[in-house]
Amino acid sequence: MDLGLEGKVAVVTGGGSGIGAAICAQLAREGATVVVADINGQAAQAQADALAREGGRAHACQVDVTDEASVLKLFERAGAEFGGVDILVNNAGFTRDMRITRMGLEDWDSVVDVILKGAFLCTREAARHFAEKKWGRVINISSRAHLGNAGQANYSAAKAGLIGFTRAMALEHGRHNVTVNAVAPGIIDTEAVRRLPHYEKIREAAQATTPIPRIGHVNDVASVVAFLASEPAGYLTGDVVHVTGGRY
Ligand SMILES: NC(=O)c1ccc[n+]([C@@H]2O[C@H](COP(=O)([O-])OP(=O)(O)OC[C@H]3O[C@@H](n4cnc5c(N)ncnc54)[C@H](O)[C@@H]3O)[C@@H](O)[C@H]2O)c1
Repeated sequence: MDLGLEGKVAVVTGGGSGIGAAICAQLAREGATVVVADINGQAAQAQADALAREGGRAHACQVDVTDEASVLKLFERAGAEFGGVDILVNNAGFTRDMRITRMGLEDWDSVVDVILKGAFLCTREAARHFAEKKWGRVINISSRAHLGNAGQANYSAAKAGLIGFTRAMALEHGRHNVTVNAVAPGIIDTEAVRRLPHYEKIREAAQATTPIPRIGHVNDVASVVAFLASEPAGYLTGDVVHVTGGRY
């Protein structure tokens, strides 16, 4: 199936590693120009260089999605240098897990800000580009944790909030040929997950409790994102696709 992504410009936040890096690679393979946008400028550059070596079109941009001025700069640059923005993937995010009685304000704010404020700022700026192009795609990377996980009050609340945001944006932008969807992955094998102290236990539990008995791969998520970004997915909006091997 031709996804119709040739010539489109995609901004992927948190594109320097893990799931975001795989999304960048998948979109580049489908012919999109990819803006690898990450707070870690070196990781963004390394990913953009790797994509270019494989024949893809990619640019690296250092951005802090929680910082309004930094986000404005990213989208201004996309307009001036890359031909605007057609696709936005709000993927930047991290966990800071602990019971609520131990959770400091900074633990709450940092997680909620990167996930929700980041998606708000980036979607607002991308929407200005979509209005010019009369076309657009937003894919928000939520998590199965939106259902609620003990020790993840900050993360679960933010990922559930991101789904509400997705639905509100789908209603606001549908008439302008812009679709907005969320992807909610289960446990995906990335460095961030491998660093967790109970990684082996998590992997074994995923094998034992998931209908497709393995931990998820970054490409399991990237291929769904590429479809949601595509032309053929144009009548799909306000939805949440769970990429959990059936665990959801
Ligand atoms: N790995 C999983 O099991 C899993 C499951 C469900 C959802 N997710 C979600 O997928 C996304 C990617 O997760 P991952 O496992 O690939 O993690 P990761 O740590 O490998 O990637 C996250 C990227 O976001 C970047 N980032 C962090 N703060 C930023 C900021 N303020 N501005 C810009 N970039 C910033 C980091 O530098 C990093 O490159 C996250 O939103 C995460 O919550 C992951």
